[in-house]
Amino acid sequence: MIDIENRLTLDERSAIDFVLVLRKRWADTVYPALTAEYEASGAPAGTVEEVAEPLHALPTYPWFSHLERSQQKMSWRLAGDAVVGRRDELVADLESVPLRGHGTLELDPTVALPSWYTDYDIHIQPGSFYSDDLSAYVYEMGARVVMLRDNDGYKFHRLFAETALPDVPGATRVIDLGCGFGKSTRPLVGKYPGAEVIGVDLAAPGLRLAHAEGEDEQLPITYRQADAQDTGLEAASSDVVTATMMLHEMPAEAMDRVIGEAARLLKPGGALRFLEFMLTGDAVRDAIVYEHAERNNEPFFRALFATDVLAICAKHGLVDATWTPFDERADGLSPDGWGNREGWHFPWAVLSATRPATAGNPTGAAA
Ligand SMILES: C[S@@+](CC[C@H](N)C(=O)[O-])C[C@H]1O[C@@H](n2cnc3c(N)ncnc32)[C@H](O)[C@@H]1O
Repeated sequence: MIDIENRLTLDERSAIDFVLVLRKRWADTVYPALTAEYEASGAPAGTVEEVAEPLHALPTYPWFSHLERSQQKMSWRLAGDAVVGRRDELVADLESVPLRGHGTLELDPTVALPSWYTDYDIHIQPGSFYSDDLSAYVYEMGARVVMLRDNDGYKFHRLFAETALPDVPGATRVIDLGCGFGKSTRPLVGKYPGAEVIGVDLAAPGLRLAHAEGEDEQLPITYRQADAQDTGLEAASSDVVTATMMLHEMPAEAMDRVIGEAARLLKPGGALRFLEFMLTGDAVRDAIVYEHAERNNEPFFRALFATDVLAICAKHGLVDATWTPFDERADGLSPDGWGNREGWHFPWAVLSATRPATAGNPTGAAA
């Protein structure tokens, strides 16, 4: 497989490095300056709603918010130009990978994309995840910058697999919902040796890249184009159902259906583990997280925080539902919180729930 990173011109590389450094300075210098300014202003701690107005009045705030959105736009522009400029060779590379090899690619052009999925460009990526054969290459490059290159080698995803997923000796099937270009799916192969690993996503471009990169690593993964709300996979067939960074990208009704589908897919005793985000309880930090979502075209982030996801799990027959902070720079699953981090960081958290071993009948599951 072609790795574009190895083919960038000096100009392209230095432009991308510039945006990366800009984002780092925004995260580790401008963000702490903004929060220190808030503290020094004497404005009250208050609720997320109460801190918003004094926060917006601070001199650093327009710089912080403008830098956030403009560096994100720059990043997509550079990634888009680098990818589209190599369109022919990248498409040929993808098309050279057989549908069946170590793994399998199951595309279904009849899968309907919900309007909430197509109505806006998520993360302000032009054309979003799904609209161009090369969308996933652009997303892959952009995501490296968004994660400040700290997730190179899929460190966060490996930490999630190592620290948040249960050991299940003899697991026969594991499903990753909203698998994107496969960085969340690949660690499951090592975590569950011998299990059938299935990645499900709506977007064909992501699945194609996931499959091609999986073949390169000789991984036996099935990538399947389907809606996580209704995967078409057999009920009670999976030991573990995962999703990373997916729930916050859908409206509350869809979150409900996805959790219902995960409950349906789980075997009795099976585990749901979703890597997502939660509020930190620090009103200024949380207000900035809310606004990050708006600046980054993630309109349902607020819906995630406003929804009682634990109650939805219970409604679908899952038990022991909890949220646990996840510190991607330290030890992964982190019940004691994210530690004292001054810079901007995503408030990662893991949603855990279990299908009872003495099976009830979760939504739609064959008992
Ligand atoms: C932010 S990406 C995360 C991808 C991957 N899990 C990761 O951690 O890199 C969210 C993914 O969820 C997918 N997605 C969103 N809604 C979905 C749905 N209803 N069914 C299947 N996939 C969905 C998107 O296409 C996208 O690939």
